[in-house]
Amino acid sequence: MVFSTIKRLYNAFSPSEVPTTQDHKPLKFGILGAAAIAPPALIIPAKTHPEVVVYAVAARDLKRAEAFAKKHGIQKVYGGTNGYQELLNDPEIDVIYNPLPNGLHYEWTMKALTAGKHVLLEKPATNTAEETHQMFDLAEEKNLVLMEAFHPAIQRVKAILDSGELGKIKSISNELMLPAGAMKKDDIRFNLSLGGGSFMDMGCYVLNCLRYLGGGNPTEILSATAVPSHDPKVDRRMTTTLALPNDIIGTITSDLGIPWKFGFIPSMPQIRTTVECESGSVSLLNFVLPTLYHTITVNEKNGTRSVTRKEKVYTFADGKMEGKGEEWWLTYRYMLEAFVDRLKGRTPQTWITKEDSVANMEWIEKIYEKSGLGARPKSTFVPNH
Ligand SMILES: *[C@@H]1O[C@H](CO)[C@@H](O)[C@H](O)[C@H]1NC(C)=O
Ligand SMILES: *[C@@H]1O[C@H](CO)[C@@H](O)[C@H](O)[C@H]1NC(C)=O
Repeated sequence: MVFSTIKRLYNAFSPSEVPTTQDHKPLKFGILGAAAIAPPALIIPAKTHPEVVVYAVAARDLKRAEAFAKKHGIQKVYGGTNGYQELLNDPEIDVIYNPLPNGLHYEWTMKALTAGKHVLLEKPATNTAEETHQMFDLAEEKNLVLMEAFHPAIQRVKAILDSGELGKIKSISNELMLPAGAMKKDDIRFNLSLGGGSFMDMGCYVLNCLRYLGGGNPTEILSATAVPSHDPKVDRRMTTTLALPNDIIGTITSDLGIPWKFGFIPSMPQIRTTVECESGSVSLLNFVLPTLYHTITVNEKNGTRSVTRKEKVYTFADGKMEGKGEEWWLTYRYMLEAFVDRLKGRTPQTWITKEDSVANMEWIEKIYEKSGLGARPKSTFVPNH
């Protein structure tokens, strides 16, 4: 058990590299910004994908780009004030990975699409639903691909709910909360103009998970309460209760810093989804990065007796579902698989549609309005494609 966990984590973060394919042209990726998320989200997953090469990186500071490229074995470097645009103009590059701060997602994704590149975009898509809509319209018009994915563990939870073994869904509760101290005060996640706020950074996951498991978009926001950070416009925490179709009630919470107990005992991260049904419940601990650890707990009531079982689902095969994968694949690796399948004209295991991405952003915006904080500022970028 401990050994298999260590082995899984070792393979997730230090996988044996697989050679790139010779018969098909590999896709060359360029990264906008020397971001800390890039290694787990793209660079490491790419090492085990035979059709992907991380080819270039751009950063405002050339030295930083060079150091990043050297560390990660990236061939080409762009820097300086025009570095991002030069990367977009590089004819060798097929796909742009955009992990820039939220508030810059719209501008640089629009510019990348205008330059004729596919885009793999970090969440949340943009600051507003209108901007997300425009990005997907441009991607469609240019016949380019833009995306976001679901780990097999959460798909297994959905399959358990769909099987009907627990009866009708009554309520869903999702939380994603980190202890205080996990983010510094000057973190970009607390910067309003960069699209900061816990409901932007973490709310996008809890909301997406709610809409996925609940099988539809909310119909009404019953309440939305923000606890501000040091900036009154930026939420440290957000809790919202939503009505969903079929009388389902959803409660979701995001928190970038739960206070320590008695001021000195660090609180634990809380990352969980729980679904209460007519004849039982199912919960998934750690729905965000199940590869690290997770447990699916199914509790089935039968008269006065109740039976509990636990499942671990690292691959689609573990969950008795169709799809490729290895137990050490991170959610990011599953996402890369789907993205490349789509670009190569194969059918991805999962695909999140334009409507789905726009709806997620639409409800994030509405929940911010309801909380009294208001939507995050629109980008000042005006596209001229
Ligand atoms: C937010 O980020 C912008 C752009 O990087 C910066 O100019 C501004 O000073 C930041 N604001 C705060 C409060 O840190
Ligand atoms: C419920 O319990 C009864 C009696 O023990 C059993 O026959 C039946 O199969 C159980 N139903 C389910 C859904 O497990």
